[in-house]
Amino acid sequence: MSTLTARFGPDASASGPAGGPSAATPVVGRAHEVEMLDAALESGAHVVLEGPPGTGKTTLLRSVADRAHVPFVFVEGNAELTPARLVGHFDPAQVLDRGYGPETFVDGPLAEALRSGALLYVEEVNRIPEETLNVLLTVMSEGELHVPRLGRIGAGPGFRLVAAMNPFDAVGTARISSAIYDRVCRITMGYQTAADEDTVVGLRAPAVPDGWRSRAVELVRSTREHPDVRIGSSVRGAIDLVRITATLSHRRGVDVVDWRAGLDAALVALSGRIRLQESCTRSAEQVVRELYESVFGAEPDADDTDRDDADPAGGDAPGGA
Ligand SMILES: Nc1ncnc2c1ncn2[C@@H]1O[C@H](COP(=O)(O)OP(=O)(O)O)[C@@H](O)[C@H]1O
Ligand SMILES: [Mg+2]
Repeated sequence: MSTLTARFGPDASASGPAGGPSAATPVVGRAHEVEMLDAALESGAHVVLEGPPGTGKTTLLRSVADRAHVPFVFVEGNAELTPARLVGHFDPAQVLDRGYGPETFVDGPLAEALRSGALLYVEEVNRIPEETLNVLLTVMSEGELHVPRLGRIGAGPGFRLVAAMNPFDAVGTARISSAIYDRVCRITMGYQTAADEDTVVGLRAPAVPDGWRSRAVELVRSTREHPDVRIGSSVRGAIDLVRITATLSHRRGVDVVDWRAGLDAALVALSGRIRLQESCTRSAEQVVRELYESVFGAEPDADDTDRDDADPAGGDAPGGA
């Protein structure tokens, strides 16, 4: 296992938008999480990254794998991920011709990751079926896999499982806890600071005036605090909000900071991303509009705006008064 030291080297200093050695997957901030992930993997541990969607779990892992120059195998966890899909299967036509053996076995992502000593990244691990989870548990405990009629597949020296899960996901999170937690180390990923989220949006969305982008981020962050909202939007909502505003204002021939374009973009980018409390009688659009007005102010007088289209102000706002 000592060979890993060289592969997971201690150059874990990816902070700042262009700070990491790998320009392909820059991680904004997260210096502590990067350090802990590097250390855990280097010491031979398997890891679960736990946090709500959009908190940079995939980005973080890709960046660590890039810098360590280890192969990376990605699996989307869902109810259809059967053991055969994860491990691999015998090709029925080939088996008829040539029988069972290594040459008729088609590697799935787990077999591939084991053989090549890769990082196996399983997204939404809480959603995979019980029997697939058991395969992962066995591999983590024993460092190898036994496939009937094929035999043993041992883990190459760099093999690690990194699982991601959203602790607030309604699907299967309780089931996971006792089984997996004893075999993995856990790194929690919360929402980042406003300044870091602002930088992330700056990297992922077209240029807009800095002050406006900061307010767009503030709006998205305020969805996480609103009493009527059970689950707010991640930074993905802010990225979409800025992208759509830029496109929409261009199409309408208005300034990018146009109040109406921003509201329309916010409704589209955020209303589906927020989950309201059961007790809330208002619509998601109404809540988004309220938050938008509290950050960007009330709608300017129609006379003051220089919009080109002829929509009466507020006429198409689902949450309009
Ligand atoms: N710290 C970060 N640095 C750079 N980009 C980030 C960061 N956090 C989130 N992002 C961006 O936000 C989006 C969601 O991140 P992602 O890693 O897919 O989140 P998760 O896997 O937790 O759902 C992506 O577009 C990603 O580029
Ligand atoms: Mg992800």
